[in-house]
Amino acid sequence: MSAAPPRIDADRLLKRLDAFAAVGATPRGGVDRQALTVGDREVRAMLAGLGVARGFTVEQDAAANLFLRRSGTDGALPPLLLGSHLDTQPTGGRFDGALGVLAGFEVLEALEDAGVATRRAVELAVWTNEEGSRFLPGCLGSQAFAAGALSPEWAGRHGPDGARLGDELAATLDALPGAALRPLGRPISAYLELHIEQGPVLEREGLAIGAVTGIQGTRWLEVTITGAAAHAGTTPPAYRRDPMVAAAAALHRLAGVMARDGLARLTVGRIRAEPGSINAVPERVVLTLDLRHPDAEALDAIERMVREELGQAATEARCEASATVVFDMAPVAFDAAMVALVEASAAVAGHASRRLVSGAFHDALFLARLAPAAMIFVPCRDGISHNEAEFVEPRFAVAGAETLLEATLRAAV
Ligand code: GLV
Ligand code: MN
Ligand code: MN
Repeated sequence: MSAAPPRIDADRLLKRLDAFAAVGATPRGGVDRQALTVGDREVRAMLAGLGVARGFTVEQDAAANLFLRRSGTDGALPPLLLGSHLDTQPTGGRFDGALGVLAGFEVLEALEDAGVATRRAVELAVWTNEEGSRFLPGCLGSQAFAAGALSPEWAGRHGPDGARLGDELAATLDALPGAALRPLGRPISAYLELHIEQGPVLEREGLAIGAVTGIQGTRWLEVTITGAAAHAGTTPPAYRRDPMVAAAAALHRLAGVMARDGLARLTVGRIRAEPGSINAVPERVVLTLDLRHPDAEALDAIERMVREELGQAATEARCEASATVVFDMAPVAFDAAMVALVEASAAVAGHASRRLVSGAFHDALFLARLAPAAMIFVPCRDGISHNEAEFVEPRFAVAGAETLLEATLRAAV
């Protein structure tokens, strides 16, 4: 160890956050940098360039996950992995994902600046397509890393913009020719991810750090309700088979039931009427359902209830409904020792913390299948995220990076 302990350079971190937020910046102060787009490729190249300049090893894998490694003194030991994502929602914020990646890079630089030798290598991962809003599945990169393979049917999937996932993956890999291709998956000693809370708890309690104990379950369904197209002006209600009426009735009833369970969440973020004419009863309505609950059995029960309500509402409107699960993530509890490590690291860094469960999913969910994992949360203003108004006070971004640095120093020995 060198004499001076490593320290987070707040100014460098905050300037980086600004520079990366400029790629895909929206007029309303947010970021649109969806997975595997030109903007996503641009920020990967920026980070890879920063890594090369610091002498880190830069690699990517077939899922276009990007890795920057600072070597340890014992090359036989599996590395400690830090990570998060650089892709955003279509109208995303500046911090969801980017904070974890850039704080991770700041940790590598802080170690480098102080000349600290860690026994394990410390590697920073940028996971591909965490958001899942352009291509299914969300957390594509971390899932593929944990499984050691890409699922063969993913490549043929198309995003709402018509792009084919396989083509966009290939183009993203080609855009970084200097990063050597490595096999998917690799033994790691542990995984740490810093992220914004995306909820109101830490801010309300005036705390800088959350030690995340686990992540609630998520299940996405694609629902199709089929009726019959008909003239909007001439067809009386009794003659209609209107799938929009069925969708509205089912969602109204489901929203009522879900509101009575304080922990359950149901969201319809995408809905499409086909053929989509202003003056025709649609033949078909296709919508997405995002279901969440911290308890796996409760999530199963919610899916059963959703299917029943959809079936009943469809029958009432003389339609048919079908639903397919397109993404399923069971709840996860993080390793107790890693959660304690986060708490201890926050204390050493001088930041008050509390434990909490994540309502959002994260790549850490899949890494937890491979190795002990944990997450560090920092507050965001009014708990707002997946929104261009998302904001993290600079002092909290820095507090998160400081906690990540302390945790890294303890986990990389
Ligand atoms: C992550 O983006 C989530 O939707 O929880
Ligand atoms: Mn995120
Ligand atoms: Mn997100």
